Amino acid sequence: MSDPQAEAHLSKLEILERKNQEALLGGGQARIDAQHKKGKLTARERVDLLLDEGSFEEIGKFVMHRSKDFGLDKEYYLGDGVITGYGTVNGRLVYVFSQDFTVFGGSLSETHAEKIVKIMDLAMKNGAPVIGLNDSGGARIQEGVVSLGGYADIFYKNTLASGVVPQLSAIMGPCAGGAVYSPAITDFILMVEDTSYMFVTGPNVVKTVTHENVTSEELGGASTHSAKSGVTHFSCANEVVCINHLKQLLSYMPQNCEETAPMLPYETSNEVRPVLDSIIPENPNQPYDMREVIEGIIDGGTFLEVHQNFAENIVVGFARLGGRSIGIVGNQPAVLAGVLDINASTKAARFVRFCDSFNIPLLVLEDVPGFLPGTDQEWRGIITNGAKLLYAFCEATVPRITVITRKAYGGAYDVMNSKHIGADMNYAWPTAEIAVMGAKGAAEIIFKREIAAAADPEAKLQEKVDEYQQKFATPYRAAHRGFVDEVILPSQTRQKLIRAFKMLENKVDTLPRKKHGNIPL
Ligand code: HXC
Repeated sequence: MSDPQAEAHLSKLEILERKNQEALLGGGQARIDAQHKKGKLTARERVDLLLDEGSFEEIGKFVMHRSKDFGLDKEYYLGDGVITGYGTVNGRLVYVFSQDFTVFGGSLSETHAEKIVKIMDLAMKNGAPVIGLNDSGGARIQEGVVSLGGYADIFYKNTLASGVVPQLSAIMGPCAGGAVYSPAITDFILMVEDTSYMFVTGPNVVKTVTHENVTSEELGGASTHSAKSGVTHFSCANEVVCINHLKQLLSYMPQNCEETAPMLPYETSNEVRPVLDSIIPENPNQPYDMREVIEGIIDGGTFLEVHQNFAENIVVGFARLGGRSIGIVGNQPAVLAGVLDINASTKAARFVRFCDSFNIPLLVLEDVPGFLPGTDQEWRGIITNGAKLLYAFCEATVPRITVITRKAYGGAYDVMNSKHIGADMNYAWPTAEIAVMGAKGAAEIIFKREIAAAADPEAKLQEKVDEYQQKFATPYRAAHRGFVDEVILPSQTRQKLIRAFKMLENKVDTLPRKKHGNIPL
């Protein structure tokens, strides 16, 4: 901290200038160099990369901690380990906090927490996203319970802000202990590969308690959390990629729950996409990549996939369609035949709820053989977890459109944004098969006796499979009932969807009055 005696001969303006310079140095040049040596940017460099040039306005630059224990009465740094303020990303207001690892390892003190809470309050009152750039050794150990209180204040604000303004968390260094729970409450987490990790207890505690030998990277690195636990939505190769992802994510979102996402200018021209007509294989059991369907429908190159490495049997992400920001949920026949399991259900449910919170219309691309059977899934609660996705769709009031590309079997037909649970428009391709189950399974059950009594059971089974297939493995039964609004050529899908989302853009739908629902958790 600057020395008042050394400042005695300076003018008041010079004192301010000196303090500003001091604050820019955080924990000092040596620690800044150490940060760079680890391949990490400093807190200020990150803010500069994130925000439009010259737009950052800092709040609380001269805040200092108030602690006196364990030598803290002799060690002060202006800003106290976190840079907070506001600025713009592509011209739109955001609030940001960026933890400074060079000051007490970015650890969270009472005043550090107060600074974060202050910008969260401003963000909620003014309706703009909050972005957290996390790089912290957790609770400031010297401060004890006041630091824990500071964390709790942040958790509380995160919860109040949830669904009011988008909250994004980039993890760019350690994030340990209870500190992981603030990012966990926010809408999206992005981690940087090799330099960030998140865990409730580190490898040493793990070894003591469970006798497991595990590295920080294995326990809570970006690859672990993007593929195994699903805690992080994005795994980014480096900090620059991470910050670019933050900006891209923001572009699909409105500023707050009262607004809609910005519409990009778009000239509708020839919208027929013949490539879609040949995507579905002849053989209904042959996989294809739902991402190709997505690319065939949306504005070129606009798909931002969320949770790319987790529960790959379902694909979720943002895209633009005729300039409009939409959320897409698609079963993925290329992985586990696109079956719904626990992870796929929770992944999609959370995405649907985010889109619904922030008025982002939903497109569902359906090719699902049902829920995954087996003891593993049943014992771990596929019932409760599958119900999350069902619940999320049922309560969503944003414009909702489904396109059934192939299979829509069993309970999964109901769950995947069916007409019955409130979808606004339901389309099917001629290749759609809408039935209680696959033809073979169905024939084996309902014609069991007939097949057993036949002279040639194999031939009888095939005959019955063909019969069931012809009757039910088509979209027409559902279309006769109006459960499907139109059977369309795949190549027409883009045009139909652009028009339908336009038709739905002023949709108003409300849920019954309640305190809040009780989603099965
Ligand atoms: C105070 C801390 C600190 C902390 C680090 N520092 N963590 N100061 N409180 N929690 C300081 C160090 O003393 C050091 O100061 C500087 O930050 C850099 O730390 P290093 O250890 O030299 O860096 P590195 O080797 O990179 O290791 C980083 C680290 C390690 C992995 C984060 O420092 C660490 O394990 N820290 C403790 C983590 C922890 O247990 N936190 C409490 C979690 S419990 P100098 O002066 O040398 O630069 C928790 C409860 C929250 O957070 C509950 C909420 C519900």
